Order: sequence, then structure tokens, then C-alpha cells
Amino acid sequence: MRQNMIAGNWKMNGTSDSVKTLIEGVVSGLSADQKCDVVVGAPYVYIPAVVAATASSVVKVAAQDVSEQDKGAFTGEVSAEMLKDVGCEYVIIGHSERRSLYGETDQDSAQKYMAAQRHGLTPIFCIGELLEERENGTTEAVCARQLDAVIEAAGIASLANAVIAYEPVWAIGTGKVASPAQAQEVHAFIRNKLAQLDTAIAEKVQILYGGSMNPGNVADLIAQPDIDGGLIGGASLNAEDFLALCQAAG
Ligand code: PGA
Repeated sequence: MRQNMIAGNWKMNGTSDSVKTLIEGVVSGLSADQKCDVVVGAPYVYIPAVVAATASSVVKVAAQDVSEQDKGAFTGEVSAEMLKDVGCEYVIIGHSERRSLYGETDQDSAQKYMAAQRHGLTPIFCIGELLEERENGTTEAVCARQLDAVIEAAGIASLANAVIAYEPVWAIGTGKVASPAQAQEVHAFIRNKLAQLDTAIAEKVQILYGGSMNPGNVADLIAQPDIDGGLIGGASLNAEDFLALCQAAG
């Protein structure tokens, strides 16, 4: 039986003070018998503080990106080894904002995914279609192409140590959530695609939904058989909302 996961993606938001208030609110509000995995994706500079604040809680910390390189003359980059060194356990890879705003290709994402795994970080690998791709009926082809880049580079077995996030780009930060049926259809497609290569991996991998998930729509989404939680942007910036999502997920 797969466990649900609620993962926050704070994006480029916060200050030392607001991050402290947010993470303390999350940690103190989680019940001791929290059953879903809880992850927060902090901006690089706040990761050490968030790791310290979550040390005696169930909350795990993610970065929002990582270099595909291991070390060396790559000014401005942050390596997987550094992230691991400061206490990160997860890293969001291939978020649509990295792909669309920073030109990250499927192959770039696959390289970052491999760098993360080389250093013991669990990738939260994001895939999803643009509005025009949904409208022209290529949602499944786009998700398959994005997944295939990772499977070809790292192998199907690598997904034993990864999380997939299906995030329809048209639903991210727009308030336009996919309907539970729309999301479930793509999640089932992803799981079936993986099952053609390895049924045990397909059964085990957590597939999160992302895109305007909030306390009002979470229950119907995670009630779907192939939706194992959420990757949450906006609603993760408010401790009360984030805790409500964690509670709904178990
Ligand atoms: P949103 O963002 O919840 O604000 O739509 C989700 C994401 O970008 O991961």
C-alpha cells in the first residue's frame, strides 16, 4: 500500500523571519501519528535553517533544483552533494517553471535526476502538459516523452528511489485545478506506462498531483486510486492550509 506524500514548493518566497514562522507553524501543528510523508521545498539559502527547525519532526526537506554537475567551475550552481551535506533528502527536478522560464530540456532534467540520485537525494520528478498540449490531445505523449527521458538515462529501476509529480502546467498557480477524473486519467496512464516495464516499481512509486491543490479540493483528488498526494505551491506558504492538506492525506 502506497503512503501519501504532501510536498510543499515554496518557490522564491520568504525571508528568514517568515520562513521561521512558517516552518515552526508546520512542525508544531503536525500530529505525532502523521501518516503521510511531509516534505517542504525551501529556497537554497534557507535550507540549513529549515533542516534545523525540522530535526525532531517527521518533516523532510527538499531543494527546488540542483546542478547536473558534481563539482567544479560552475559559478552559481549548487550540487547534490552540497544539498545532501546540509541535510536535504529530496529535490524537485524538472518543475515546469525551470523548463519554461530557464530553458531546461527533458535531457537536462534527466541529468539533474541522475546527479541527485548519485548523492542519495530522492528526486521529485515533475512532468505535465501545457494548455495547448491538452487542447490538441497530446497530454499523454508529452508526459510519456518527459518520463522516457529519465527512464532512458537512468533506467526504470531508478524509479524505486524517486517520486513523480504530475503537474498540468495550466493548473499551476492559476486556481484552475484539474478535475479528479482528469488527474486520475493521467496518473493511471503514467502508472500503466511504468508497469509495462516493471510492475513492482509501478505499484510502489508515489505519483503526486500538483496544480492549485488546496484544502478545499485535496480530498477528492487524493481519493483517486492513482493519486498519492500533492506537490503544493501557493497553499504551502500558509501553515494552516499546509497542515490541512497533510491531515487530509493521512
Ligand atoms: P500551485 O503550484 O499549488 O501554486 O499551483 C504547484 C507547483 O508549482 O508545484
